[in-house]
Formats: sequence, structure tokens, C-alpha cells
Amino acid sequence: MNVGIIGSGTMGSGIAQVAATAGCKVNLYDTNQAALDKAKSSLNKILLRLIEKGRIDESEKSRIQGNISYVNNLKELSDSDLTIEAIVEELDIKKKVFSELETYVSNDCIIASNTSSLSIASIASSLQKPERCIGIHFFNPAPLMKLVEVIPAIQTSQEILHKSIDTISDWKKVVAVAKDTPGFIVNRVARPFYGEALRIYEEGLADFATIDWSMKTLGGFKMGPFELMDFIGNDVNYTVTESVFKAFYYDPRYKPAFTQMRFAEAGYLGRKSGKGYYDYDESGKPINSNSVTSSGVEKSLSETIFNRVLVMLINEAADALHLNIASAEDLDSAMTKGVNYPKGLLAWADEKGMEWCVSAMDELYNEYHEDRYRCSPLLRKMNKENKTFF
Ligand code: NAI
Repeated sequence: MNVGIIGSGTMGSGIAQVAATAGCKVNLYDTNQAALDKAKSSLNKILLRLIEKGRIDESEKSRIQGNISYVNNLKELSDSDLTIEAIVEELDIKKKVFSELETYVSNDCIIASNTSSLSIASIASSLQKPERCIGIHFFNPAPLMKLVEVIPAIQTSQEILHKSIDTISDWKKVVAVAKDTPGFIVNRVARPFYGEALRIYEEGLADFATIDWSMKTLGGFKMGPFELMDFIGNDVNYTVTESVFKAFYYDPRYKPAFTQMRFAEAGYLGRKSGKGYYDYDESGKPINSNSVTSSGVEKSLSETIFNRVLVMLINEAADALHLNIASAEDLDSAMTKGVNYPKGLLAWADEKGMEWCVSAMDELYNEYHEDRYRCSPLLRKMNKENKTFF
């Protein structure tokens, strides 16, 4: 299969590696020669590291590298069966590139976008044949993260959807099909992990380290919300939250937090700037994030924090199912494979019991009287009918 990748930055170069490893012939295109050179040399470094670790041998390295051509002319993508775009997140620029690309490729070439926040319908509208357009959303770093969200637009044909699912599965990725709605699955369902943690901090209930400790120790999350926000970058994470909030017509459930905005404004971006919710040394290791130990945290406070964030996550996942954003299976595999949650949120709901979920949400609602804490009708219905998700 011939694959064209547009944009050789963080995501494009990672996707090129995935496709080339799966045996595809890849043309990796960028307008910026320096970005192409960087992609080539970083792939070499990555593959050398894989040899050191004994994961691949020299001939596998040459095979992968031999499958990728670095090109600076969009016309070179003309023989593609599939193209995936990973350029700047700006609708007008993407539309321009897509309509030019369509003049070069054959009629049955799939034209996909790796966009995180734009609607696939709006990107597809730039094409003469919008039914060939689809969202194929990888996670960073693309070679390591198992999940790929596949997002058909309202224009997308069933044939293109099935071909895309088959191709991405052949690339040894786990596919979750999502409706073309803001944040797709992961960037929607994960919002309370950050938002509720920030709210708990803003109310003065606990500091960053205590909240992180609670989520890691009681929930089994690999990173706490504040560690993760520092890792992602407070500027990037804030922007995603703000764009999801706007895209949902200002639904209070997705409201961004002043705390994070101020951190982003101050340049306290996290790991990459050396300072965020924690301080980092030059190698990017946190200096003070482990200051909380089990003896330092009151158990009931930790439980309150963990239960509150967890039930908000469960509520979000249940509501996504209620609104047919994805199947229960895909919702759970998205969160475990895309952001390494220790358990799928709907499976977690089954474990906790619907009654617990509904009363935890109602307790929050009764305390705050904010729409943010409304219980998903699906949780209520399942509780009434004594049902489980799986
Ligand atoms: P990046 O900034 O690392 O790379 C973008 C590349 O596109 C640059 O090399 C740039 O020279 C090139 N480019 C810009 N305009 C172009 C044009 N008109 N034609 C050809 N090349 C052009 O960006 P990154 O992080 O790789 O993101 C790319 C896309 O992937 C965005 O749509 C983003 O929303 C999405 N995405 C990003 C994730 C991330 O964690 N960085 C995760 C998932 C999706």
C-alpha cells in the first residue's frame, strides 16, 4: 500500500514510522525542508535505540528506512492509496492543502486528517469527493500509543470507513470508532480528570501533590492530573479544554479553570519550561512532586478526592455512550489504550455499581446546584433497570 503523509512534525513523522514498519511505501511530505531533515534524523535515532534494546535488527532498520521517502512537493503523493494529513491545526490551511491534494491523487484514494479538534465534516467539505474523507486520529507518540480513533464525517462512505478500519488494524493499532463531535472520545471523556482536579484545588480542599497522590494510589493511575498536565504542557492542555468548552456551546461541564490559564500565562508550562505545578530539573525530572507520602495524607480526604474525580469521569463516559459517540467497548478501550487508564470507565462503573454512581453524582449536584454535576440520564436509567454496561 502507498501512503502519503502530509506534515513531518511530531505526529506526521511518528505515523510515517508506523506505516513503514507495517510494510507500506510512505511518502512523507512537508513544506519545510528543516522539518523533513529532522524527521529523517530522529527516525534514525529511534531505530538505533530499538536495535540497542534488541527489539529490531539492522536489516529491519534498513527495511523501515527504505520504505520512507522524504518529499517537498505535494504532487509526489499522487500514487497514494491513503493520505494522512498532520499539519498545523488551522482549518483554512488544511482545506487548501486538501483541495490541492485531490487534484493529484486517484479517485479511490482515502484522504484522512489527524486533527485533534477540528470537525471532519468541515475538512471534508473542501473536497470534490467528500465521501472519501475521514478522521484518523493517532496519539502521541504514534509508534507507542496503541489507540487510533477513526472518525467518519457525515459525508464519509461506509466503504471508506471499513477500509480505514482494516488498514489501521493491519498496522497493529487498536481502532475506536468515534462520532464526529468535539474531542472525539479521549479528548472529551478525559476532561474531568483535569477539570475536576483543578476545581478541587481551587476550592482549597487539597494541594496538587495530595490530589495526584490520591489518584495514583487509590485509583492506580500512572500519573496524577497535575503531573500529567505538566507533562502535556499547561498551554496545550488549556487550549484543548478551551476549544472543547467552546465547541460544546459552553456546557459548564467542560469549563476551563483560571488556575491553569494563569499557569499558562505565567509561562509555568510544566516539564518543558522547568516549572509548572511542580519544579523540574534539567533532565525533566520532577524535583518536588513526591513530597506527599501515605502517612501525610488523610485517608478520608484522599477517598473524597478520588471518588469525586472518578465519578465525574464515569459520568462523562456514560453520557458519551448515551449520545452514541462510540460503543461501550470502544469507549473503554479508548481510555485504556489511548491514555493508559488502569481500567475502562464503564467497566469501573459496573464495579462500583450504578447506585453508587448515581448517588455520588446527585450528592455533588445537591451540594453545588451546578449543571456541571448533572447525572447522565443513562446512569439513572441503568440504575433503575438494575443493568450493567458489560
Ligand atoms: P508539528 O508542529 O510538530 O508539525 C506540523 C508540521 O506540518 C510541521 O513540520 C510544518 O512544517 C508542517 N506544515 C505546516 N503547514 C504545512 C503545509 N501547508 N503543507 C505541508 N506541511 C505543512 O505538529 P503536530 O504536533 O505533529 O500536529 C499535527 C496535527 O496533528 C495537528 O492537526 C494536531 O492537532 C494533530 N495532533 C497532534 C497531537 C500531538 O500530541 N502533538 C496528537 C494528535 C493529533
